[in-house]
This record gives sequence, structure tokens and C-alpha cells, in this order.
Amino acid sequence: MQRLFWRRYLLNVLLMVSSAATLRAQVAAPADEVIPAADTHYKGREIAQTMHYLGADWLTRESREREEDCQQMLKALDVQPEQSVCDMGCGNGFYTLQLAERVGARGRVYAVDIQQEMLHLLDERAKAAQLANIEPLLGTPIDPRLPEGKLDTILLVDVYHEMSHPEQMLRAMRKALKPHGRLVLVEFRLEDPEVPIKLLHKMSKEQILKEVPPNGFKLVQEYDDLPWQHMMFFEPAELPAANGPADR
Ligand SMILES: C[S@@+](CC[C@H](N)C(=O)[O-])C[C@H]1O[C@@H](n2cnc3c(N)ncnc32)[C@H](O)[C@@H]1O
Repeated sequence: MQRLFWRRYLLNVLLMVSSAATLRAQVAAPADEVIPAADTHYKGREIAQTMHYLGADWLTRESREREEDCQQMLKALDVQPEQSVCDMGCGNGFYTLQLAERVGARGRVYAVDIQQEMLHLLDERAKAAQLANIEPLLGTPIDPRLPEGKLDTILLVDVYHEMSHPEQMLRAMRKALKPHGRLVLVEFRLEDPEVPIKLLHKMSKEQILKEVPPNGFKLVQEYDDLPWQHMMFFEPAELPAANGPADR
């Protein structure tokens, strides 16, 4: 009799443990988080591989300021105190920290990356700089997990050309912006053979315009004085009726 009690007791414990495990699995991977296969090409362009976190030192190399004139880029970006901005594809936070200083203690910088290791590197740098207004977010290739309708600016420096699911990401970023919020793409100029970057990691203006406006954005400003990069500002716009898989 006593043996039967213990057998039933153990069975119940096992059932409880296994249903808790199922519940955790559901929480960790909700059905809408299924990520479709990565696109290899988009509108005639080959999508570049994601830069690995082991190469992150390149982002904070000593020559970057001189080569890319990062201060000029930030000046043209014109982020204001108290704004909410996103450093999309933040890497180890080269720009995140500078944005955090510009928006100040009453502003917020959402730092999104799909590599947890990049966010660790960012976290170390943010702690050393004693910046408390940065919110790191581990995104997925289709969802940056940003709050809806809250952002003044989403900055993508050397990131958009790596996005494996450009349409889903553009849709998600459009949702995250305020009505007159800005999506700012900074990409190495494909048109300029003097820019010493691999071709797959460069983009032409023509290609950017083939990809971004059909996903519900309008070009509102361009800054053409950076040494190596295009800088293009977009705002949310109506989605063109013909937007769909047939356009690819
Ligand atoms: C070349 S690094 C640029 C880092 C940073 N923007 C800078 O200029 O220092 C590109 C970064 O974009 C990230 N990335 C690629 N696809 C992404 C996506 N869909 N969402 C968020 N981050 C992404 C990569 O993990 C990588 O850290």
C-alpha cells in the first residue's frame, strides 16, 4: 500500500515537472516567433553576412573617427536632449554611448542587436562610461522588440545591408517610429571605388531607394558630405498598394 502511494506520488511529480517544462518552452518561443528562412537576395542585391562579434574591435578602431568622420555624422544626425532614439545593430556600442550622452539623462537610447555577445561588449562600455539611459535589446532577425510609436530616430550605421529579413525589419521599425520619426541609413558608398570596403558591405543610393520607400517610407533628407558613407533620412509614409512578394 505504502509502495503504491510513493509510486503515484513520483508519477505526479514527474507530470508536474514535464508540464512546467512545456510552459517554459512556450514562453521562450511563442508561435509568432518562427523565423522564416533568411533571404539571400533582395530586389537584386545580395545580402551580406552579419559581422561576427569576434571582429568587434574594428568598430572601435583608432582610425575610425578620421576615416568616417563620425563627429560630422552625429552633427548631421542632430539628435536632441530628451529624445528616444534607437541604435539599430549597435554592435559594441561605438555610437550608442555617444547618442546616450547627446539625449542626456532624460532621454533614452534603445540599443538593438541580434548577437548577445555584442550587447555584452556594449554593456561593459556603458558601465565604464557610467551611462544609465541605455536599454539594450536582443532582437531577432525579424523583430527588434522596440516599443511601438515611441521613437524620434532610428539610426542604422553599416547595418541595413546585413539584414537577412529586410521587409520584416523595415515594417517593425516603421511601427516603432513616431509619425514624424526618422529612419536614418548610413551605408558605405558603392558608387565610389575609393571607399576601401568589400562590395557586399556597400550600397548605392539607387539600391537604397529601390528597397526602403516601397516598404512605407519617404526620403526627406540626404547628407552627402561624409568621406565614405551615404546618409539618408526617411520618414514613415503610406504603404504603396503594390507592396508584396511579387515586387522582389
Ligand atoms: C557592421 S556592425 C555595425 C555596428 C554599429 N552600427 C557601428 O557602426 O559601430 C553590424 C551590426 O548589425 C547587427 N545586425 C545585423 N542584422 C541585424 C538585425 N536584423 N537586427 C539588429 N542588428 C542586426 C550585427 O549583429 C552587427 O553587430
